[in-house]
Amino acid sequence: MANAISLKQYLADELRKGNIDADLVGLLSDTMTACKQISYDLSQGALMGILGMAGSENVQGEDQKKMDIISNDVMIEANNRSGYVSGMASEEEETAYTLPSDAPRGKYMLLFDPLDGSSNIDVNISVGTIFSILNSPEGVENPTDKDFLQPGTTQVAAGAVVYGQSTLLVLTLGNGSHGFTLDRNIGEFILTQPDIQIPADTREFAINASNQRFWEAPVQRYVDECLQGAEGPRGENFNMRWVASMVAEVYRILTRGGVFLYPMDEKMRAQGGKLRIMYEANPMGFIVEQAGGACSTGRERIMEIQPTGLHMRVPVILGSKNEVERIISYHKDA
Ligand code: AHG
Ligand code: MN
Ligand code: MN
Repeated sequence: MANAISLKQYLADELRKGNIDADLVGLLSDTMTACKQISYDLSQGALMGILGMAGSENVQGEDQKKMDIISNDVMIEANNRSGYVSGMASEEEETAYTLPSDAPRGKYMLLFDPLDGSSNIDVNISVGTIFSILNSPEGVENPTDKDFLQPGTTQVAAGAVVYGQSTLLVLTLGNGSHGFTLDRNIGEFILTQPDIQIPADTREFAINASNQRFWEAPVQRYVDECLQGAEGPRGENFNMRWVASMVAEVYRILTRGGVFLYPMDEKMRAQGGKLRIMYEANPMGFIVEQAGGACSTGRERIMEIQPTGLHMRVPVILGSKNEVERIISYHKDA
């Protein structure tokens, strides 16, 4: 590609402008090395024996796939001894991960969902990696769970990598959301979607309709109105998509608009929702807001919530701004 800007060049430019520091450049580049490894492993599939179950459960009682564990190990190894982080937290780790005692400590903390959408691995549908970067509290040698419990508004950077037909990174450093496509020939991410803007209006929604009987009234109302199409109160026909990989869902919304809902439902009330705030909802919220969209539980902006646990769950409604605001207003009405 003529005049192509690589992720390396993009980060060097942000460094020159004083928007980020060299440690963050190093951390992002190590994290992308991990994602390139995960992308390669996924592309080999059965050839490398990475499909199927690991035969174990994570702390959240979910069955782990082999790739959940491999991706988690790859992310940890890529960042373990870099000197850019003081600790890490992962969907697949019960508590905050402590670096080896002889490893240098850095000024950031890295949180991640190493493999998002893992029910899709074995069926060759897009999956992804989501990450969030926070400042490490001063003077803390080995951050514990409580050190990670910062609201999403304090995120320094967030990214989501989609392993699909191409491998794509969407990154925000707090000045817009930008898309990079992995050029496998040279092993570099290339800036292909600068300054993504989510259309404010949409006629496409994403929700797992098998949970319908458990939804709350405002979500019932919203979906019902969409389904009534041109004959209903919206006066327009709506389209529906559900990939069951949040990364793919969010990337679609970043590209052509739409709204994604994993709302509160009766069977999940005790656990607070389905998606985890620290390494799913907050980084996605940061990316979506930086692209002009909105991200809410229906009752509050997700990034302003004070997290109470590393694996805390929240209802998630995100995407095209006007549509998310409409759903919020239905919550107020109810
Ligand atoms: P993970 O694979 O990291 O556990 O996350 C899966 C999440 C999310 O990506 C997706 O939107 C949702 O779970 C799918 O849930 P259902 O299987 O209930 O549709
Ligand atoms: Mn996930
Ligand atoms: Mn996961």
